[in-house]
Amino acid sequence: MKIAIACDHAAVDLKEAIKAYLDSRLIEYIDFGTNGTESVDYPHYAEKVAKAVLAGDCERGILICGTGIGMSISANKFAGIRAVACSEPYSAILSRRHNNSNVLCFGARVVGAGLATLITEGWINAAYEGGRHQRRLDIITRIETQQLPHEQ
Ligand code: RB5
Repeated sequence: MKIAIACDHAAVDLKEAIKAYLDSRLIEYIDFGTNGTESVDYPHYAEKVAKAVLAGDCERGILICGTGIGMSISANKFAGIRAVACSEPYSAILSRRHNNSNVLCFGARVVGAGLATLITEGWINAAYEGGRHQRRLDIITRIETQQLPHEQ
């Protein structure tokens, strides 16, 4: 599995901790930045990761900002992205089993490196169960594809 990972200025240290975890598991990743503490706009980083996942360059993505919320809102604007903001492993694991989440988000101002690593580990290891859940994801896909472009 290859992971697309990115963060904003609030989460550079936590991104490094998650990369160290991925290294320890020999999981490949592409780091889309940011890499410094200069203030940046998180939607740009969500866009990079969402596009890498949708293009098939990476199977899944991880996005980290201050809360995980801005990243998840941004990533979910892309049809086919199912991004979840999680602060504990249970939701992260169930988001894989039931929702086939393909982008995990969390907040560096919410969780520490230890908890974030457990969230990531649970999410990476959990598998989508399909079955009755696919019917619901198909409804989400229908809703996505029927959305009209916003009037300018
Ligand atoms: C940046 O200050 C902060 O707004 C951002 O990291 C994130 O928490 C947004 O959702």
